[in-house]
Amino acid sequence: MIVVENLVKVYKDVRALDSLNLEVKPGQMYGFLGPNCAGKSTTILSLLGLVFPQDGRIELLGEEVFNGGRFKEGKLVKAKAKIGYMPEHATLWDFLTPLQTLDIIGRAFKFPKAEREKRIEELLKLVNLWEVRNKKVGKFSKGMRQRLLLAQALINDPELLILDEPMTGLDPRGIAEFKEIIQEQRKSGKTVFFSSHILAHVEEVCDTVGVIVKGKLRLEDSIENIKREFLRKAGYTIIIEINRPVNWSSAEWNVTPLGKNKYRVVAEDDIREELHDFVASQAAKVLTMQVKEPSLEEIFLKLVE
Ligand SMILES: Nc1ncnc2c1ncn2[C@@H]1O[C@H](COP(=O)(O)OP(=O)(O)OP(=O)(O)O)[C@@H](O)[C@H]1O
Ligand SMILES: [Mg+2]
Repeated sequence: MIVVENLVKVYKDVRALDSLNLEVKPGQMYGFLGPNCAGKSTTILSLLGLVFPQDGRIELLGEEVFNGGRFKEGKLVKAKAKIGYMPEHATLWDFLTPLQTLDIIGRAFKFPKAEREKRIEELLKLVNLWEVRNKKVGKFSKGMRQRLLLAQALINDPELLILDEPMTGLDPRGIAEFKEIIQEQRKSGKTVFFSSHILAHVEEVCDTVGVIVKGKLRLEDSIENIKREFLRKAGYTIIIEINRPVNWSSAEWNVTPLGKNKYRVVAEDDIREELHDFVASQAAKVLTMQVKEPSLEEIFLKLVE
């Protein structure tokens, strides 16, 4: 769906994209994660031909649209007809209603009146704004505005949805609503690529996460694999509680006492069985034992450090 190879974008003295590589496969829900200034918006704007990268290659929906410093205009226009885009800093006309707003967008796509009306009704129902279709947008909450912007992005029934920080600024309920709507889109076969600097936005909904830091992709994998790999590198942290003290001096792991007969044990591998044996060899018993899984937040912070 999206292939980016060695993409370079330099703004004056800022290397916003530093040989970026990424791949989004059809049907994926891809979370494009990175801290502020990492290059997320620059990547998205480059995909859509809204900024001009200096080098690299871009494929959209199977067609090469950019190579060696030049966009292929015809191919880009064709691909963009099948893409829905929600910009990071989009504005709405406050004096219009949702119906009027989408009607203008529908006209821009030259949909005939009947088709336009049908599509607009479907979309406003989808984003839960049908009830307020005749209210002025100026009075809308941030969550309602974001949902209307999503409806705009969906007007052409795109195969690929590109959303730049769609959930930033929403309250927890707004985030939950938004997630539900994009999950429905994904179920109906669309590919969704959305950026965020907040892990919680991608954690439950995305099957694949790409982390961009300083214009480079630091990793791209499923959330489970990222956690597993991180656990492998960072070592296993096991919290163990036993029924009476033991002598740890012969243990080859890093052991820190945490309280009465409670310890933190850090080892390179999963040593739960060895730990049981070690404790048993001193005639003590394990009461509780748990592996402390890293949260995605910890992994993310380590990566962007
Ligand atoms: N038009 C521009 N002119 C000059 N520098 C720019 C321009 N747009 C972006 N940059 C710089 O390029 C880098 C990447 O910016 P970009 O907006 O792509 O980051 P981002 O990951 O989207 O950040 P945020 O989370 O704040 O939206 C930053 O250092 C930024 O200051
Ligand atoms: Mg941005």
